[in-house]
Amino acid sequence: MSLLTEFAQRDRVFDFLTPSESPVDVRHGPILYLEDVNVSFDGFRAINNLSLTIDDGELRCIIGPNGAGKTTMMDIITGKTRPDSGSVWFGSRHNLLMKSEPYIASLGIGRKFQKPTVFEALTVFENLELAMAANKKVFPTLTAKMTGEARDRIDEVLATIGLAELRERPAGILSHGQKQWLEIGMLLMQKPRLLLVDEPVAGMTEQEMERTAELLISLAGKQSVVVVEHDMGFIRSIARKVTVLHQGSVLAEGTMDQVSNDPEVIKVYLGEEA
Ligand SMILES: Nc1ncnc2c1ncn2[C@@H]1O[C@H](COP(=O)(O)OP(=O)(O)OP(=O)(O)O)[C@@H](O)[C@H]1O
Ligand SMILES: [Mg+2]
Repeated sequence: MSLLTEFAQRDRVFDFLTPSESPVDVRHGPILYLEDVNVSFDGFRAINNLSLTIDDGELRCIIGPNGAGKTTMMDIITGKTRPDSGSVWFGSRHNLLMKSEPYIASLGIGRKFQKPTVFEALTVFENLELAMAANKKVFPTLTAKMTGEARDRIDEVLATIGLAELRERPAGILSHGQKQWLEIGMLLMQKPRLLLVDEPVAGMTEQEMERTAELLISLAGKQSVVVVEHDMGFIRSIARKVTVLHQGSVLAEGTMDQVSNDPEVIKVYLGEEA
C-alpha cells in the first residue's frame, strides 16, 4: 500500500478530527476544485488528467458523449470512486480524497441519481420530513414533535419544488417529473452547498423539462449546481458555462454558443443529436 493511500485511509478513520461544521471556505477560490485527476478501470482510463473548477453559486452544465466520464466524475467528487491520482478540494479547506462518502455528504454535497428514490407510500410532506430527520447536523433537536423551524423549512422547499399543493398526497401518485422534483427537494432539506444532478430530464415531458429548467436556475446562486445531461435543448435552456467532457478530460469550456461552434466538439458529436 502506498504511503499516500495509507495516510488517506488513516485520515478517513479520524474524520471527526476535522468537524464537518467547519465551513466551506470559498474566500480565495472556487467551491469545487479538481486537478489532474486520473482513474483507470482494469487498465482503461475513464478519467484522464481531469482538471475542473466550479465557482460558488454557479450553475454548470457538463455534456459529453456516452462514456466520457461524467458519472465517474460525480462518483469521485462524492467519494464513491477513489482516483488513482490527482486532487479534489471542496473549498480551500476540505480535501475530499481524504474523506469518506457519508462525511462528504455531510459537508454539503448532495447528489441526485437518475432514478428517483422517493418513498411512495409516504406523503410528499413526510418524504421531506424524513430527509430532514436524516440530517442531525441541520436539525439536531428534531424530536417526535416537529419544531417550527423544521416546518418552515419544509414549506420553503415545497414552494421551491412546486409541490405545495400536493403536500398531503402519497408520493406514489406523483408523475415521473414530480418525483424527480421531490427528490431534489429531499436533497435541499439537507441544505447542500453543492448539488450534483445526473441526467435530470430523462423520461420527462416537455412541460416537466421546462419546470425543471426553472427549478435548477432558481437553485443556482443559493447553492452551486452541476448538471450532467444529454438533452441539448434542455442544456441550451439553462446553460451559463458549459464544460464538454471527452475521454475523461475537458475538451472545451465556455458558453453554449462557444462550445457548440468548437470544431473539436463538433467532431466528437458528429453523428449524434447535438
Ligand atoms: N465501476 C466501473 N468499472 C469499470 N468501468 C467503469 C466503471 N464505471 C465506469 N466505467 C467506464 O468508464 C467510462 C466512463 O463511464 P461514465 O459512466 O463515467 O460515462 P458517462 O459520461 O457518465 O456516460 P453516459 O453519458 O453514458 O452516462 C465508460 O467507458 C465506463 O464503461
Ligand atoms: Mg453517466
